[in-house]
Order: sequence, then C-alpha cells, then structure tokens
Amino acid sequence: MNKQELHDFARKNWVPILRDKSADFLCKIIKDEQPKKILEIGTCLGYSGTLMLENSNANLITIEKDKDKSERARENFEQAGLSSRVEVINGDAGEVIQELLNKGEKYDFIFLDGPKGQYLFYLPILKKLLNKKGILMADDIYYHGWVKGNDYPKHKHRTIILRLREFIEKITTDEDFDTVLLDLEDGISISCLK
Ligand SMILES: C[S@@+](CC[C@H](N)C(=O)[O-])C[C@H]1O[C@@H](n2cnc3c(N)ncnc32)[C@H](O)[C@@H]1O
Repeated sequence: MNKQELHDFARKNWVPILRDKSADFLCKIIKDEQPKKILEIGTCLGYSGTLMLENSNANLITIEKDKDKSERARENFEQAGLSSRVEVINGDAGEVIQELLNKGEKYDFIFLDGPKGQYLFYLPILKKLLNKKGILMADDIYYHGWVKGNDYPKHKHRTIILRLREFIEKITTDEDFDTVLLDLEDGISISCLK
C-alpha cells in the first residue's frame, strides 16, 4: 500500500496509526531537526515510519511485536522505495531496546508509540539510547483524555492511566530533559536531552 492507501485503510479498519494533526507535527519536527538515526517503538503498518523517512535522509530502526504487521510494514516500505533506510525488527520492544543499548547504539530521534503501559519502564533505557540534544517524542500520553486530572479510574485501563501519569511526572521533572507537553489530539510529549 502507498502512504495514502495505508492511511485510508487504517482509518476505515480502526488500525491505530498516528492521527492527522499529530502526523503533521511529526513531519514538521523531523523536517526541522533532520535526525540521522531514528528509533521507533510501534511500527504498526509503517505509516509514521514512512512519514519520518520521507521528511529526512535518516535511517530508521522500528520495532513491532506483531509478526503480521511487521511483514506488512516491510512490504509497505519496500513499495515506497524506502527499504534501504529502514530495518523493521519483529519483537517485544522492551527486550529489543535493551539489546540495542547493550550494543551501544545511539539515536538522534526516538518516536515512542508502542504499548502505553510500558512508556514508564522504557524511559530510562530510551534516555540512554539518545544522543546529546536528541529528541524523544511520545504519542498518546493523555490516553483518550483519561490521564488528565487526578482521579483514580475504576475501569480496565486504570493501570495504563496511572503509569502514563507517572511517565509524565518523570519526564517533566527530569532535569536532563527539556520537555513540553502538547495538548494535540491524544497528547504528545517532546523531550530534548540537554
Ligand atoms: C499506535 S500503534 C503504532 C502506530 C504507528 N506508529 C503509526 O502511526 O503508523 C502501536 C503499535 O505497537 C505495537 N506494540 C504493542 N506492544 C508492543 C511491544 N511490546 N513491542 C513492540 N510493539 C508493540 C502494536 O502491535 C501496534 O502496532
């Protein structure tokens, strides 16, 4: 599928790709910052990965747990003529980022868009994977708006919501980062490592 087909397929079939205004924002920040090495957590079908590659000359490592989605993403990158600049790793992001760290890998830009309940636990590893002045962008930090406020939800998303609140608390108080929170669609955090 090309980018537009991918976008339309995802919207029609409730596949959770980046929302439109957030996608515009991602394109702009990638265009402005021109990172050379990008890491993405949560490939899905390769929509956001395609946007990042089209707006830079970067190389991208992108991690997806679901085998079928990883394969479909590889096909989509191939069709877009981008496959020489991207590696899709099929695996659990928690394990893969630890392996990347053990190998001494570093990135200029990390796009965190994987399992929301794990952002908090990924944060210390992602911080070590960032180059100085590198940027960590996390999507869906307000998780349907439930993360805003302080009440304790009783529904099944409770753990994710409490962990995202803790993630926001950690990333906004970490003095090694300059962080801004954007109230755009489902909420985005942008953190620049000093
Ligand atoms: C919101 S979607 C990513 C959307 C994609 N970034 C885009 O905008 O095109 C989140 C993805 O993370 C994947 N995922 C969930 N848990 C994961 C894990 N533990 N490791 C890697 N990927 C995971 C899901 O299968 C899903 O495809």
